[in-house]
Amino acid sequence: MALIFLLQTFYYLAFGWPEKSLSKDIALITGGGNGLGRLLALRLCKMGTKVVIWDINKTGINKTVEMLNDLGGYCKGYVVDISKREEVYKAAEEVQRDVGDISVLINNAGVVSGFNLLDTPDHLIERSFNVNVMAHFWTTKAFLPKMIENENGHIVTIASMAGHVGINKLVDYSASKFAAVGFDEALRLELEVLGHNNIKTTCICPFFIQQTGMFDNVWARWVSTLNPNEVADRIITAIKRNEKLAIIPSFLRGLLILKWATPFRCTTAFLRCIVPDAAPHSRPEKSVLNATANATTITSKVDIMSTFKENLSPLTNASSLLMQRSSSLGERVL
Ligand SMILES: NC(=O)c1ccc[n+]([C@@H]2O[C@H](COP(=O)([O-])OP(=O)(O)OC[C@H]3O[C@@H](n4cnc5c(N)ncnc54)[C@H](O)[C@@H]3O)[C@@H](O)[C@H]2O)c1
Repeated sequence: MALIFLLQTFYYLAFGWPEKSLSKDIALITGGGNGLGRLLALRLCKMGTKVVIWDINKTGINKTVEMLNDLGGYCKGYVVDISKREEVYKAAEEVQRDVGDISVLINNAGVVSGFNLLDTPDHLIERSFNVNVMAHFWTTKAFLPKMIENENGHIVTIASMAGHVGINKLVDYSASKFAAVGFDEALRLELEVLGHNNIKTTCICPFFIQQTGMFDNVWARWVSTLNPNEVADRIITAIKRNEKLAIIPSFLRGLLILKWATPFRCTTAFLRCIVPDAAPHSRPEKSVLNATANATTITSKVDIMSTFKENLSPLTNASSLLMQRSSSLGERVL
C-alpha cells in the first residue's frame, strides 16, 4: 500500500498534480474580514466559487464583501463570534437557508495573546483555545453532515508552524495550534475509517506572515517572514490538489524531522535563535489588558485604525488590504 502511494507521488512529481475545480463550490471562510481570510476569499471568488465569510469585525466583512462584489463575484458576510458555539450553529442554519450547502469550510480565524504564560490573563488563554481550535469542532459539526450527505466536502484547517514546535511567548497560541493540527489529523483518519472518502481535509501550517496584523514585526532570524499573497496562493493550490498537509515554506518540513532526530536541547537552541521574540510588536499598554470586551470597543478601534491607516504613506497603505484592525490580538479588544 505504502509503495503504491510512493509511486503515485513520484508520478505526480514528474507529470504534475491533478487539481480540482472549485467553480461550483460554496466556500465558508471564518475570519474572512481581514488578512489571509480576505486573500483566500478573493482568490476563490476569481475562480467562480460562491464565498461566505464569517468574522466578528463588521467593517472588515463589509470591505471583503465589497471587494468581491466589485470583482463580479458572489460573497455574503455574517457577523459571527465563532468562539460561541450556539452562535455558530445558528449562523450555520442561516447560511444553509440563504446560500445553500457549504462544500469547502476554511477554519481560518485565529487570535494570539503574545505574552509569557504567567503574564497572560486567563480570559485570553481561553479565547485562544475557543477561537483557534474549539470553533473548529462547532463549524465542522455544523457543516459536515451535509457534506457527507452530498458526498462532497473539504475541511481546511489553518494551523501554524507553531502547531508543530513550541514557541516562547506563544504558549497558549502554540498549544491551541497543536490541537488544531491534531484535530485535522484525527478527523481525516476518522472520515477514512467511516468510508467518507469524498470528504477531504487539508492542514495548513505557515511560518510567520507579514502584514496581516497578527504577527507584524515579529523578530525572526534565518527564515524570512512570508508574503501573504504567496501564502494564500499556496493554500489554494493545496486545496485544489487535496493535499493533506502544507508546511509553508516547504523546506521547514525537513527541519521538523530533525526535531525528533536530534537531542531536545538542539531543538530549543535552534528555536531560540530562529525566533528570539514572537510577541507581536507595537502592543498597547498593559492597562488595556483588563478592559472589558464589547462590540462598541471593537468597532471604534477598527474605525480609528482604518482612519489612521488611510492617512499613512502610500507604501504603508499597500498593506491596508490586509490590516484594518487587530481583533486577532486579544489584548487589543479584551
Ligand atoms: N499571521 C501569521 O503570521 C500567521 C502564521 C501562521 C498561521 N497563521 C494563522 O492564519 C490564520 C489567519 O491569520 P491572519 O494572519 O490572517 O490574522 P488576522 O488577524 O489578519 O485575521 C484573523 C481574522 O479572524 C477574525 N476573528 C478573530 N476572532 C474571531 C472570532 N471570535 N470570531 C470570528 N472571527 C474572529 C479577526 O477579526 C480577523 O479578521 C489564523 O488562524 C492564524 O493563526 C497566521
